[in-house]
Amino acid sequence: MSLLIDKIRVADSFSKAAHTYDKAAALQQDVGEQLLQWVGQSIPDKGSILDLGCGTGYFSQHLTRIYPHRDLICLDIAQGMLQHARRHRVLPRAQWLCADAEAMPFADNSIAQLFSSLAIQWCADLQLLFKEFARVLTSGGSAVISSLGPASLCELRQSWANVDENVHVNKFVAFEELLAALPANLKLERQRREFTVLEYNKLSELTSELKNIGAHNMNAGENKGLTGRARIGKFKSNYESFRQQNGKLPATYEVYYLLLRKDG
Ligand SMILES: C[S@@+](CC[C@H](N)C(=O)[O-])C[C@H]1O[C@@H](n2cnc3c(N)ncnc32)[C@H](O)[C@@H]1O
Repeated sequence: MSLLIDKIRVADSFSKAAHTYDKAAALQQDVGEQLLQWVGQSIPDKGSILDLGCGTGYFSQHLTRIYPHRDLICLDIAQGMLQHARRHRVLPRAQWLCADAEAMPFADNSIAQLFSSLAIQWCADLQLLFKEFARVLTSGGSAVISSLGPASLCELRQSWANVDENVHVNKFVAFEELLAALPANLKLERQRREFTVLEYNKLSELTSELKNIGAHNMNAGENKGLTGRARIGKFKSNYESFRQQNGKLPATYEVYYLLLRKDG
C-alpha cells in the first residue's frame, strides 16, 4: 500500500510540474542528449520504440527524428506530463500511454529500442523493472538508460542531516546495486558514470528548480509535519558551508548511463 501511495505522489508531483519542467530541466536535457547518442542505428526489424518516463516528450521528438518509420510509444506515470506533451509535441506516429514502468501493458518481445532518461530512479523495485525490460524487448533489442546515483544532491542531504531525522532528499541506488538487479538475459554492453556539479548564486534557485521539475522528495519517511522556521534556517546555514571560492553554491549529480541488450 505504501508503494502505491508513493507512486501516486510521484505521479502527482510530476503532473503538477509539467508546465514548468522544460524551462528548469537543463541537466535533464543535457543527460538525455548524451543518452540519445547511445541509441542503436541497427535495431531489430520488428518492434516499436519506447520512451519510458517520457515526461514532456522532449526526447520523444528526437526519437521520432531518429526512427521516422517506427511506431513510438511514449509512456509516463504522470497524466499531467502526458497531457502537456500531447498539447506541445506534434508526433503523428506516437501513442501516449499512462502506465507504470514496473508493469508495462505491452506484449512480450514487442519493443526494439527502449529509451529512458532520468526516470527509473523513481521506481520501487529494480529487479521487477528490469524483468519487465527483458520481457518486452525483442531478441537483440536494446535499452539505453540514464539514472542518478547516491552522490546526487549530497550537499542537500548533508545540510539536512544534522537538522532532523527526516528524509528530505530522495535515496538513489548505487551503480553496483543497479547492475545486480539485471536478469541473466539482459546484458550490459556499455556503461558510464559521471559527476556533474551545478552552481547557484542562492539556495532558493536550486530548491525552486527541483520544485519546477517535480523532483520533490517522494521516499517513504519524508517529513510530513511543518518545516519550522528555525529548522529551515539551520538547513540554509549548513548549505552555506558548501559555498565555493567562486562564490557559488554547488549541487552535485552522479549520473549513470547504461546500454543493455536482450540476449535470446
Ligand atoms: C525527471 S523526469 C524525466 C522526463 C524525460 N525523460 C526527460 O528526460 O526530460 C522523470 C519522469 O519519469 C516519470 N516516472 C516516474 N516514475 C515512473 C514510473 N514508475 N513509470 C513511468 N514513468 C515514471 C515521471 O512522471 C517523470 O515524467
